[in-house]
Amino acid sequence: MEATSKAKQPTSVSSLMREIEHLGRDRTRGGYSRPVYSHPELELREWFLAAAQARGLDIEVDANGIIWAWWDRADGARSGALITGSHLDSVPGGGAFDGPLGVTAALAAIDLLRSEGRTPSVAVAIAVFPEEEGSRFGVACLGSRLLTGAIDPDRARSLRDADGTTFAEASAAAGFDPEHLGPDPARVAQFSAFIELHVEQGRGLIDLAGPVAIGSSILGHGRWRVSFTGQGNHAGTTLMADRRDPMVAAARLIVGIEEIARSVPGARATVGRLEPVPGGTNVIASRVDAWLDVRHPDDEVTTALVERIRARAMEVAGEQGCEATLVEESLSPTVSFDASLRDTLQRALPDAPVLDTGAGHDAGVLAAHLPTAMLFIRNPSGISHSPEEYVEDVDADHGARALATAIMAAGGD
Ligand code: GLV
Ligand code: MN
Ligand code: MN
Ligand code: MN
Repeated sequence: MEATSKAKQPTSVSSLMREIEHLGRDRTRGGYSRPVYSHPELELREWFLAAAQARGLDIEVDANGIIWAWWDRADGARSGALITGSHLDSVPGGGAFDGPLGVTAALAAIDLLRSEGRTPSVAVAIAVFPEEEGSRFGVACLGSRLLTGAIDPDRARSLRDADGTTFAEASAAAGFDPEHLGPDPARVAQFSAFIELHVEQGRGLIDLAGPVAIGSSILGHGRWRVSFTGQGNHAGTTLMADRRDPMVAAARLIVGIEEIARSVPGARATVGRLEPVPGGTNVIASRVDAWLDVRHPDDEVTTALVERIRARAMEVAGEQGCEATLVEESLSPTVSFDASLRDTLQRALPDAPVLDTGAGHDAGVLAAHLPTAMLFIRNPSGISHSPEEYVEDVDADHGARALATAIMAAGGD
């Protein structure tokens, strides 16, 4: 409750980022590896709980593992609440800012407003969503999908990580009853809007030469698993003519995917993960799994692209005496953020340009249920999902100030 919200010196985003910079560093890949419910991600969640508690925010952790830290109204009413926040999990070898910047900026924005004695008319909650990246269990934005019913809880429970651990097992190990995973419409109905601040993940704000942009839309995107099966065999005794090598089929497909995607303006197609089974230097693989990520602003074009890729997979598999399957793991349509909320933010932040993004976010999932908006913060490297992702301290502070302004504009004075 408001009782503990004494006006204190606000904390800068950079000082909050410094508090977590040692958590989940990946000494092999560089950058950070914070898969959901791994030791480093749990440490980050603990750090956030402590930071929220130190600010007197009222903490709830729901059945889906989403943390909610409430800056309540004096009367405790939560209807019409404004949500901000982001995620703390990362891709393998990711940057420091993708996710944590939105969480630290939310804390800093609340500090700023309180230090100025400004209180929105609605309750504000900082949300921390688990498995935004889908790096451990394969489906991105798993927490927000569960919350909103965008994924069947049975399917979520049975998702497996690379070691064979199910999401149900990982949730239980993190302290959540997997039987209780699933939609929470009553909670979602409390929210009037969600505003997610995020590091910009391309070079949009470098080109526009500004520190902060307002998000307009998220490119439609999806993930598919392509599996090639052949004949596992000995690398030394099997003549080249006698092989049914699924690695060769996968390699041919990857080259084909690049060619197909380049032929379609605006398309992006990536194979960033390949798993040969059993994976030995002197072993011809018996199976190869390749994960495909395809994005395009027009969802019909995405579907058509994937069908071309499927046909190519069958063709290259046949050439190698292998078999291929292509299975959809997730598909998110193109999302335009709420026009009226965007207008409100544009009036409040007249210098901020409007930018779309090719990256997926929980804001995209929540957009089907409530007005959502995003703020992007300049990334001078223009690189993300990589250790080179970067944000200048001064831009991060601009971001926290912009988020505070957005909270007051959307949450009412
Ligand atoms: C997540 O960041 C994604 O866009 O893949
Ligand atoms: Mn990301
Ligand atoms: Mn992110
Ligand atoms: Mn993302």
